[in-house]
Amino acid sequence: MTTTERTAGATGRRAEDENGVPLLEVRDLHVEFRTREGVARAVNGVNYSVSAGETLAVLGESGSGKSVTAQAIMGILDMPPGRIPKGEILFRGRDLLKASSEERRKVRGARIAMIFQDALSSLNPVLSVGYQLGEMFRVHQGLSRKDARARAIELMDRVRIPAAKERVGDYPHQFS
Ligand SMILES: Nc1ncnc2c1ncn2[C@@H]1O[C@H](COP(=O)(O)OP(=O)(O)OP(=O)(O)O)[C@@H](O)[C@H]1O
Ligand SMILES: [Mg+2]
Repeated sequence: MTTTERTAGATGRRAEDENGVPLLEVRDLHVEFRTREGVARAVNGVNYSVSAGETLAVLGESGSGKSVTAQAIMGILDMPPGRIPKGEILFRGRDLLKASSEERRKVRGARIAMIFQDALSSLNPVLSVGYQLGEMFRVHQGLSRKDARARAIELMDRVRIPAAKERVGDYPHQFS
């Protein structure tokens, strides 16, 4: 059983959605995994919608399917063993489950991103943090390495990492 909690964004008001369509809508989503012991039904009919500028918190006990739902939205579920027998994931009204892998790749990272539960071990230990942050801008916006690095510094500044300019070349293990 999961519950959801919504708040307006930092501006304190809900931004208007384009054409009255929510930014993200999950409808009757079902996800199952084929295992040796049979089919494990991880997500059974989840529904939620998020408008532009809104924050939605999804609460639920461990194993209730929060991460699996997020992975389905991102399009990073392991299929097989995973399968989505039923449901829709509408991004700006368009069902991502019906999109081509090329379309999904464009949305992933540029429009929808995921911060993993164990963010530190999700980063590549042998690449600098700045390089990994900059990758987003190189891949999705075609920025040069230099410009991507500048954007990475900006982002680190924004989350108040002290001396971002010096720390952009640090490796994940050098951050607490
Ligand atoms: N690849 C997989 N194969 C089989 N079962 C899986 C797989 N991935 C997830 N599951 C199962 O799906 C269910 C939902 O897991 P999920 O990770 O989404 O839970 P969660 O709500 O994020 O929990 P937590 O609060 O611990 O992060 C669990 O029973 C889990 O064991
Ligand atoms: Mg989880």
